[in-house]
Amino acid sequence: MINSDNLSREKKYIDKILVLDFGSQYTQLIARRIRELNVYSEILPWDISAERIKSLNPRGVILSGGPESVTESNTPRIPNTIFELDVPVLGICYGMQTLAEQFGGQVTSSKNKEFGHTKIVIQSSSLLFDGFIAGSEADVWMSHGDHVSTLPDEFNSIASTSSAPIAAMEHNTKPIYALQFHPEVTHTEKGNEILNNFTCKICKCATQWKIENLIEQKIHEIKETVGDQKVLLGLSGGVDSSVTAMLLDKSIGKNLICVFVDNGLLRKNEAKDVEKLFKDKMDLNLLIVDAKKIFYRHLKGVSDPEQKRKIIGRTFIDIFDNEAAKLKDDVNFLAQGTIYPDIIESSGSESKEARVIKSHHNVGGLPDDMKMELVEPLRDLFKDEVRKMGSELGLPLDMLNRHPFPGPGLGVRIVGEISEKKVLILQNADAIFIEELIKAGLYDQVSQAFCAFLPIKSVGVVGDERRYAHVIAIRAVETVDFMTATWARLPYDFLAHVSSRIVNELENVSRVVYDISSKPPATIEWE
Ligand code: XMP
Repeated sequence: MINSDNLSREKKYIDKILVLDFGSQYTQLIARRIRELNVYSEILPWDISAERIKSLNPRGVILSGGPESVTESNTPRIPNTIFELDVPVLGICYGMQTLAEQFGGQVTSSKNKEFGHTKIVIQSSSLLFDGFIAGSEADVWMSHGDHVSTLPDEFNSIASTSSAPIAAMEHNTKPIYALQFHPEVTHTEKGNEILNNFTCKICKCATQWKIENLIEQKIHEIKETVGDQKVLLGLSGGVDSSVTAMLLDKSIGKNLICVFVDNGLLRKNEAKDVEKLFKDKMDLNLLIVDAKKIFYRHLKGVSDPEQKRKIIGRTFIDIFDNEAAKLKDDVNFLAQGTIYPDIIESSGSESKEARVIKSHHNVGGLPDDMKMELVEPLRDLFKDEVRKMGSELGLPLDMLNRHPFPGPGLGVRIVGEISEKKVLILQNADAIFIEELIKAGLYDQVSQAFCAFLPIKSVGVVGDERRYAHVIAIRAVETVDFMTATWARLPYDFLAHVSSRIVNELENVSRVVYDISSKPPATIEWE
């Protein structure tokens, strides 16, 4: 049961770790690891106001890494407020270097930059290394150009590497610790133990934080931001926008208006399924815009992949704008299912130090004259956290564990010009393939699977008749990050069965081929 009063009370008293962000690409990972320990953590930029820091009332502070060098002037420093809090502090990489410098030690730019795996030797039985044996070695992940060359007075070295004699340090009397390496990345052996030692043994945080708390917190925040005003959401049927819709529904009910644009390039029955789930079953305020004809008209005669993508994107924005304009006077907020990896692959987005690697792509693009404020409740979460949240909110498992589907949809799976007829053939072929993958228990073993429609015809024979018809390609890949992928070694018997079903059930298909290309050099999609 959601109760805002309980939540405010709980949020105020729940143990939390503040992650002060110096711009590292791993900052969000630190917060995530702490949350995995069931302790609440929040990221704030290093130059945030003293009031904000104090209002958070953290039980401990972690100083993130960052791209700057403390050997240069005008680089970020730890605000004094952190030390006035009188709580344990853990500096990581840049956080360690600025800690050392601010306590009177020396930091030197190394000639030999250390990036990647290295071994540390644990030198002392510090509480930070509880569970490690003094003198033992551990594999860690380094990513730095500078190192602490002279310890500040009052600090001891507690670990070393062959090239950095001071790979970790601790204050003689205060609970202040620092690591030159990154405990938050999985390459660091026992990194989680180190973070657990800091969070639970040094800061003595109680492990009270659960995904249910996160849901309550998000609902509370949405209510505070939006009040009784209306919010518009572009619902795609994907996990992120679906979870956003459910959170908003719990927060503001009928003041949420969801718009689902059927662009005619969706999976078979997708629009109907979305309507069934969100409108009929969950009773969301859902507007389904049938824009198939408009998309097909705009795409007629176009076969260049990039041009198709642009047309699909632009048409989507136009239609979404149109719908928004109809509601405009009423709606002050636009909600989006933006998640952390969509935004900035660097650090807490408020930080001045954040280095933008990948720019933010939002659901429909934001028109300049649409003076709506953004609501992005998932922007600090990773995909698996969003999935957990969705599961807790009651989103069906098959929706939660679905393979990703590209924004331009079947538009990039029909090689060459798009037509309604080709879309129908592809939707049917794809539905057969996915149905068989699920039946064979293979769906969850591959990362993405689909059919593509090829721009050629081929001769086949069915019964006594020649059939000159289309060719469907089957694609299934295994990948962790979708940046590289290998083609899935699906069993021959399974492929034979799928091929036979497609050719027998779809009279416009005479041949099925299996795509055995990995990425690179191929991409996952055909266009
Ligand atoms: P590629 O084909 O680049 O795909 O190897 C990598 C992942 O990204 C998805 N993808 C897209 N997603 N808009 C999207 O929202 C696009 O234009 C797009 N192109 C590819 C693809 O499905 C795969 O998961």
